[in-house]
Amino acid sequence: MKATVIGGNGFIGTSLVEHLLETGVKVRVFDKYPSRFSEPLDEVEYITGDLGNHGELHDAVKDVDWVFHLAYTTLPESSNQDPIHDVRSNVVDTLQLLEECRNNKIKKFVFISSGGTVYGVPREVPIVEEHPTDPICSYGITKLTIEKYLQLFHHLYGLEYVAARLANPYGERQNPHSKQGAIGVFLGKIARGQPITKFGDGKVVRDFIYIGDSAKALVACARYEPGPEDPRVFNIGSGEGYSINQIIETIEKVVDVPVYVESTPARSLDVPSNVLDISKARKHLGWSPEMQLETGISRAWQWTKSLSLV
Ligand SMILES: NC(=O)c1ccc[n+]([C@@H]2O[C@H](COP(=O)([O-])OP(=O)(O)OC[C@H]3O[C@@H](n4cnc5c(N)ncnc54)[C@H](O)[C@@H]3O)[C@@H](O)[C@H]2O)c1
Repeated sequence: MKATVIGGNGFIGTSLVEHLLETGVKVRVFDKYPSRFSEPLDEVEYITGDLGNHGELHDAVKDVDWVFHLAYTTLPESSNQDPIHDVRSNVVDTLQLLEECRNNKIKKFVFISSGGTVYGVPREVPIVEEHPTDPICSYGITKLTIEKYLQLFHHLYGLEYVAARLANPYGERQNPHSKQGAIGVFLGKIARGQPITKFGDGKVVRDFIYIGDSAKALVACARYEPGPEDPRVFNIGSGEGYSINQIIETIEKVVDVPVYVESTPARSLDVPSNVLDISKARKHLGWSPEMQLETGISRAWQWTKSLSLV
């Protein structure tokens, strides 16, 4: 088996690449930038390129069985500032990638969608895949749009795909300078001796999934061989909800330095609660999350401390 990981040098991509190699899959990475937090691996073929340069996509997906699409130019917050950019650089460029994939007869296209944004404000939790989809950010709309194009390419051309609606991954190599990923950002601030910022009252509930469990789920998506009526869209999370206050309490237990918290007003794009029902992934992908939150945060903290951020 050989796989291309588009966006393979990022947080999720580097863990996915490691897990693919561990399971005997040959790997090509196509990314705009080198990895910020790990060295290139001898056994991986690296192509530096931009999803927006359509001429580069042919070589990116040539002669591989699986394509994992992880590159994205926006975050939930930034997407609302420029939805036109969100559509052009994500929907349009992904469509070009899909064209290349069907021409190259790719066996499985795995797209990383977003369990945190496609549903919008949940009517009930845990959220099942059939829950209405009413995103309150452009990012959620473009993720959903791409899911619909995957369905269309499957219908028209038989391109096999899985859309993984990923919850909130955390763990080693999560960028501590990012605007996304509460646990990674909190740990980065704590390592620098800075206060962490809590939006609103901290009662917002999220589904946090350890990065190693996320990587295993994505490989399970690629290995999955669905029949015509089988699902192709899966929630991937821990299936458990923790409030930001509970996350901060867990962090306080794990880290060996003081934690300072400051509060700012709640953000309009934060839905009050998001916990995914992962029964379908357990049943069809034969996958289950394994990491306990406290152990996962402890591993993330050990990694963050090793960065010498101060
Ligand atoms: N991190 C999360 O909380 C989270 C949650 C749900 C879904 N996702 C999705 O998972 C995917 C990966 O996220 P991540 O956290 O690893 O992000 P990341 O920013 O760490 O990694 C993304 C990688 O894609 C590359 N990239 C971006 N635009 C590109 C382009 N036009 N051409 C080539 N390479 C490009 C970047 O250089 C980077 O290495 C994204 O699609 C994201 O929307 C992330």
